[in-house]
Amino acid sequence: MSEKIAIKNNVLKVFITGASSGIGESLARQYANQGAILGLVGRRLELLSKIKSKMNVPCEIYAIDVTDQKGLQKAANHFIKKYGAPDIVIANAGVSTGTLAGEKEDLHTFKRVIEINLYGVIHTFLPFIEAFKKKRSGQLIGIASVAGIRGLPGSGAYSTSKAALINYLESLRIEMKPFGIHVTTIAPGYIHTPMTKHNRYTMPFILDVDVAVSRFIKAIESKKGFVIIPWQMNIVGTIMKLLPSFVWDFLAKGGPKKIRKMIQ
Ligand SMILES: NC(=O)c1ccc[n+]([C@@H]2O[C@H](COP(=O)([O-])OP(=O)(O)OC[C@H]3O[C@@H](n4cnc5c(N)ncnc54)[C@H](OP(=O)(O)O)[C@@H]3O)[C@@H](O)[C@H]2O)c1
Repeated sequence: MSEKIAIKNNVLKVFITGASSGIGESLARQYANQGAILGLVGRRLELLSKIKSKMNVPCEIYAIDVTDQKGLQKAANHFIKKYGAPDIVIANAGVSTGTLAGEKEDLHTFKRVIEINLYGVIHTFLPFIEAFKKKRSGQLIGIASVAGIRGLPGSGAYSTSKAALINYLESLRIEMKPFGIHVTTIAPGYIHTPMTKHNRYTMPFILDVDVAVSRFIKAIESKKGFVIIPWQMNIVGTIMKLLPSFVWDFLAKGGPKKIRKMIQ
């Protein structure tokens, strides 16, 4: 099942989580168009199978929850044994839901969002770091969000998870540099995917998913450390970061809010 396959040296190998939908599905398609060998993770096997069936490249699919550290370790071992260490690992899986930061009923959802959006990324990277250190190369990509720049009312869990993720990726980037491993943080603004489909508020500078992902791939190719996409949101993000708290509090209280919804 996991026999080693002979692969030409210059064939790109990419491992992507959250590949069953939205950004991850577009990443898989666009890397497949480049002839890359793929490892795809998501919970919905039927969607992963459908995506795989449309591809003309070697593609392994793994129906795993990213909170399952052992499951990800097993998937990584299987991929590495069959194809060797990947060149790029993209931790993209994530969930978003409205939450209230001061409500007890939201605690389970808070924990779950942080488990998926933060620990899911850590679980994804850890199994590959040893292999990357051995070959003294490799890229680790984390998909954060502009929502991680300041605390958003009504989206405390998501905002917290992405803020923690941005800092985790920054620590990792500095630690990995001596080993020749590059870490890229991509913080998207709004992108048309199932995640934003039900938002009933204006989403400024929203991008088509394939357009956004082709920009992500360019940022990955140029080994950027941190990038906000699109560029207009980079300006917004930079201003958000600089605002004093009293100005941010005033502006954010009337801002758009995701519908409050608990997740299991
Ligand atoms: N769309 C935006 O505007 C936007 C903006 C900023 C950041 N982002 C970030 O971009 C990433 C992708 O989001 P998207 O917009 O493409 O949303 P999406 O279409 O809802 O896709 C989310 C993906 O993550 C997977 N996923 C969710 N929970 C998982 C879990 N516990 N274990 C394994 N896989 C899981 C889903 O697959 P299964 O359900 O099959 O598991 C799906 O493939 C997320 O991290 C999100 O926070 C999106």
